[in-house]
Amino acid sequence: MEWYSAPGKVILYGEHFVVYGNRAVLCAINRRVQVSAVPRSDDIISIQSDVASTRYSMNDYATIDPALAPLRHIAESRCPGGVDIHVRSEIPPGAGLGSSSACCVAAAAAVSPKQSPPRSVLALALDAERTIHPNSSGADCAASTYGGIIEYSKESPKPVWRRPPDTMRLVVADSGAEHSTARMVETVARFARDNPERFDTMKDMADSLAGLALSSMDAGDIHTLGRLASQNQSLLEDIGVSNDTMRDMIHIADRHSYGSKITGAGGGGCIVAITDGSNSGRTASALESAGYHAFEVSADAAGVNPL
Ligand code: PMV
Repeated sequence: MEWYSAPGKVILYGEHFVVYGNRAVLCAINRRVQVSAVPRSDDIISIQSDVASTRYSMNDYATIDPALAPLRHIAESRCPGGVDIHVRSEIPPGAGLGSSSACCVAAAAAVSPKQSPPRSVLALALDAERTIHPNSSGADCAASTYGGIIEYSKESPKPVWRRPPDTMRLVVADSGAEHSTARMVETVARFARDNPERFDTMKDMADSLAGLALSSMDAGDIHTLGRLASQNQSLLEDIGVSNDTMRDMIHIADRHSYGSKITGAGGGGCIVAITDGSNSGRTASALESAGYHAFEVSADAAGVNPL
């Protein structure tokens, strides 16, 4: 049985605004999802994962757990005789760390012909992800497919790799509350509908923040990267994807790090703090002492690959 593995991600700058065409900066992280797909010839589709499992005949109408819709799409579109899919994950679901997109990408690779180009794996993964998140920008799937730190926009989905400062460390803390990406994207759509001019201004600000972050990354300027994360967080507050728990975590992280923000859709899930060796430990300990699970992640240069 051949397994394929794809990394999760944090969004460093530009989530939500990327849905409206902005640039975002993402970092694939060293937490991965592994998927194997073994073809069958009896029309049975079987999916086993920690989140949910199912087994049904393609000849019968089957109701399945909505969380499995992306894998169902991949199985039914690419495995005409049926398939056994197994998923193993190191990434908590609903935390904004890209568990669902990493799963889609690893599964897309597992059912694709060997040596398929990354762009075709990404296209299938994105079709699958859009079964549960129709407006997905594709940013998460791109980070899982290509790995590393990437600049991504919907107009040029082949991402540009960027080199992080050698000393940069990322501390992630989990609120413990699962979030729904679709619901948070809808919250932002409502904000944009109700405040079109304000949203346009914020979108421009978010795009220039992403641009400044990319040049600060090239210059190795961690202090500025932290400050830009905090400015990005203010925009996320304004568009309504934060809450008291996220604010508490950010307040704690900002006492020790260079700056922190929600990563991903918000409304729960994780924050990410920009640090280096001088303050990463203190940042993580302070968050842990306050009862939040906190850990350091590093950039994973490897995108989707066979195990
Ligand atoms: O599902 P999450 O938490 O990784 O968030 C996805 C990122 C968004 O920008 C909020 C949505 C998108 O499609 O890019």
